[in-house]
Amino acid sequence: MKEELKQLEKEALDKITSADSLKEVNEVRVAYLGKKGPITEVLRGMGKLSAEERPVMGALANEVRESIASAISEKNEALEQAEIAKKLEEQAIDVTLPGSPVKLGARHPLTIVTEELEDLFISMGYTVEEGPEVETDYYNFEALNLPKEHPARDMQDSFYITADTLLRTQTSPIQVRTLEKHKGKGPVKIICPGKVYRRDNDDATHSHQFNQIEGLVVDKNISMSDLKGTLELFAKKMFGEDREIRLRPSFFPFTEPSVEVDVSCFKCGGKGCSVCKQTGWIEVLGAGMVHPNVLEMSGFDSNEYQGFAFGMGQERIAMLKYGIDDIRHFYTNDIRFLSQFKQA
Ligand code: PHE
Repeated sequence: MKEELKQLEKEALDKITSADSLKEVNEVRVAYLGKKGPITEVLRGMGKLSAEERPVMGALANEVRESIASAISEKNEALEQAEIAKKLEEQAIDVTLPGSPVKLGARHPLTIVTEELEDLFISMGYTVEEGPEVETDYYNFEALNLPKEHPARDMQDSFYITADTLLRTQTSPIQVRTLEKHKGKGPVKIICPGKVYRRDNDDATHSHQFNQIEGLVVDKNISMSDLKGTLELFAKKMFGEDREIRLRPSFFPFTEPSVEVDVSCFKCGGKGCSVCKQTGWIEVLGAGMVHPNVLEMSGFDSNEYQGFAFGMGQERIAMLKYGIDDIRHFYTNDIRFLSQFKQA
């Protein structure tokens, strides 16, 4: 019986040693330690033993059971550790691998131009004002010296919402709103960027929605030379230090006198080329001295205060600066177009 038990122990321990899964180990446990296992079987035969042999055999049987049980738990432990080690290895993250690149967008060219203009004018002491895109007829036209039925209203075909409200056709209504806020007291020194809307058919140079930036300075002793100096600085900063400007008489109902402002061609330096259509000059904005009627209607004494105003389109500036030949590129979000404006 003793040999039998020893033999069983050896067998079981061998099987445990050679098992390589938790499942196999468990099979050994069931086979050798279970109620129907061979050890139990051997112990059943204890009845035949003498009274002296019985406790000795019982102790031996327990030893064998314990030895098998502890071999099982050691083996289980080892297998579990191996399993964990394997998982760790399989799921290991190589932190030295390069990451997948995050695709960075580019700023929109209109944003670049708008921010450049804002930076320039802010550096000259201007503040930025905004106004509503759905505007009243009063602010968009009447208070800008364009009474109802004034023929100059046709210069800007409008999207009317009601008889009295429309999508603003220009950023000039922000001039009026700001002047009203100042209650007849200068100085006023603002730029107003924003979207404007006109009933135009879209083509390479027209869009029913575009962007403008307005400038307004109102104070005592403001003259046309202040306007000219400001525009000269603008031309040099936006188009290059060698640029010159040229003022041509023009008409806007809210300025008198009014001018169209040309910048000497940045491509050919004024000799004449395709960009400036052989003239040496490129038209970039409209400007003028604020009409006394506009000042008076917004509560300023036009004997005491004068002002100048200018307005330009960011699309036009961007098209000139970046050589863009179709205004529709700004609005169609073609990634091939937009990604060209990535900045270092
Ligand atoms: N608002 C004018 C336009 O849209 C531009 C302008 C602004 C002209 C200010 C003169 C002074 O055409």
